[in-house]
Amino acid sequence: MSKLHIFDTTLRDGEQVPGCQLKSEEKLEVAFRLESLGVDIIEAGFPVSSPEDFKSVALVSRHIKESTICGLSRAVEEDITVAANALKGAVNPRIHTGIGTSEFHVKYKLNTTNEDIINRGAHAVKFARNLVSEVEFYAEDAGRTDNEFLARVVESAIDAGASIINIPDTTGYCLPEQFAEKIAFLVNNVPNIDKAILSTHCHNDLGLATANSIAGVMAGARQVECTINGIGERAGNTSLEEVVMIINQHQHINLTHNIDTTQITSVSKTVSSMMNMPVQPNKAIVGSNAFSHSSGIHQDGVIKKRETYEIIDPASVGATGSEIILTARSGKAALNYHAKKLGYELDPEGLKIAYKEFLEVADQVKKVGSIHLHKIFKTIKAYA
Ligand code: KIV
Ligand code: ZN
Repeated sequence: MSKLHIFDTTLRDGEQVPGCQLKSEEKLEVAFRLESLGVDIIEAGFPVSSPEDFKSVALVSRHIKESTICGLSRAVEEDITVAANALKGAVNPRIHTGIGTSEFHVKYKLNTTNEDIINRGAHAVKFARNLVSEVEFYAEDAGRTDNEFLARVVESAIDAGASIINIPDTTGYCLPEQFAEKIAFLVNNVPNIDKAILSTHCHNDLGLATANSIAGVMAGARQVECTINGIGERAGNTSLEEVVMIINQHQHINLTHNIDTTQITSVSKTVSSMMNMPVQPNKAIVGSNAFSHSSGIHQDGVIKKRETYEIIDPASVGATGSEIILTARSGKAALNYHAKKLGYELDPEGLKIAYKEFLEVADQVKKVGSIHLHKIFKTIKAYA
């Protein structure tokens, strides 16, 4: 089974979001959690961006021993030098450098030619390779870059010494089949591609970040760049927890990873609170509703056999367990389940009466809690 490398960019792409900025000590705290989670590569920051970010990357580099520590830079000598200095204390340092490759970047942002982009990219990789032994190259906006040109950029970056090639869908533009096609095109058309690992880096503007990452992996990518809770610029990045649980769920993908999934829920909570970024309740894997069931039909199924409506065991991601929430859409099975949990044994007639009373309360309040339930069950018990 081949290995899927998990590259976490919570501390770089995730941290770019307004309000999510962390001080160096806070970044270190998150980095320890990511290391313990089993992340292979931690992108700790963009060292040239601010003195505090330089400090963060340097601090994380000194303390994290298991994961590779990566620093971002543009294809600019000064950025690369600063990144290398910040990474000095790391056991396994990696510089992540690159340049925009789509027409938007080449023509409008950088106002230059395709040949110049190839040369600048290759020069940046060579320059970085003189400072650290592991260099990753990114082709920004690869999602909207012509595949033939992208293949030339990638070939030249590998020749220059890059051993990881990042194919970002920077604007979250691609459909899964288009992104898979792009990765397959590179696998089949870049002559030196086996000297490098292809990486996905997908944004979520159309809600397709995870689907695109998985499509890229199935087409040959062996590194996924992602963040905890999918935080990141605009609509965010690929969620680490989603990718890992998809790989676990669909064993035929035939890949291994290092992530200890039982830590997912607690790392998610830490990142959410430290970065002031609430997790939407219906977020896959880590949302507060991810394992709760509120409609009668589903509740009945889950009570009889959990797997009827749950494909993930909550314990496997460190969540407390499946929850049966009582609302006006719940059925008798759910009410009886809660009655038993609270120590009431209702006969069929008692349950019928309790359910009628329950619905009256449930129509008034959004969620029926144990205080209400005790009141209902106590009366019923007297008549049952
Ligand atoms: O989205 C992107 O293109 C990036 C690169 C800087 C890797 O974050
Ligand atoms: Zn990004």
